Amino acid sequence: MSRIAYVNGRYVAQREACVNVEDRGYQFADGIYEVVCVAGGRLIDEALHLDRLERSMRELRLSPPMGRAALRHVMRELVARNRIADGLIYMQITRGVARRDHAFPATPVKPSLVLTARHTGPYPSDIDKWAAAAITQPDLRWARCDIKTVGLTANVLAKQAARERGAVEALLIDREGFLTEGASTTVWVVDANGKLRTRHLDHAVLPGCTRGALIAEMRAAGIGFEERRVSEAELRGACEIFLTSATSFVRPIVQLDGKPVADGKPGPLTRRLFDLFALHVRGLPNDAPAARAA
Ligand code: PDD
Repeated sequence: MSRIAYVNGRYVAQREACVNVEDRGYQFADGIYEVVCVAGGRLIDEALHLDRLERSMRELRLSPPMGRAALRHVMRELVARNRIADGLIYMQITRGVARRDHAFPATPVKPSLVLTARHTGPYPSDIDKWAAAAITQPDLRWARCDIKTVGLTANVLAKQAARERGAVEALLIDREGFLTEGASTTVWVVDANGKLRTRHLDHAVLPGCTRGALIAEMRAAGIGFEERRVSEAELRGACEIFLTSATSFVRPIVQLDGKPVADGKPGPLTRRLFDLFALHVRGLPNDAPAARAA
């Protein structure tokens, strides 16, 4: 079955879908995006993603191409038309099409809205197989990483460096020697005392929706954590490291720059949170029988 995309008001065969060469997203990366996980046909953390999309639009002074209810309808329609059970929705909004000029078009143009959908897999069943390697890279990005813009050059280069070294993610270290986040993920670290940490939200990191959802689940389950900067030394000395994102869920990092993290296996807290998040993705309460048994 060929994939169906939504492009500026029309559902079209994705292989025939196209945008104008003078779209400002194409020329200036003047746009924003979201990636929403679909699991069992449900849109996971949809409200968090739509809140962040609206925030990104406000920060870039983009006018919404449609209201929230209409966008929710298009997302559902795309899931249905592509028969997605487990997959993801990609949504992108750019400032629109105008003759190339860095400043906003003097006469406002209609923003461009594109949505695509694709199949992935269900929530991973085996955490040990889901565990992966990461490398560190300098964080070369701009000063407003809290906005989910399509300007991802530095993320692309960092991710490629990871792939060339057999790793799934690049953990980014800022100029002051602190971990910010992954090229496309939030990073969490557990120290030798079992203390869980992730960076506080500021302009240096994207406010991850999975981060937010996991925090809510941890609060409900009485699991403590701290939001503050993590130094490169703390990262290298960590007993557990894991990533979160709409497509990674909770993903253990068991090797960093070619060296094992602790004993090279997912740690106990990462295992617990992997199971907790599996319940979240399945829409089950956090006191349901362990996800592993499901
Ligand atoms: N990436 N940090 C960055 C830089 C990201 O690009 C992402 C998401 C995250 C995690 O955000 P969330 O939990 O809302 O997915 C953190 C998406 C998945 C992507 O670009 O494909």
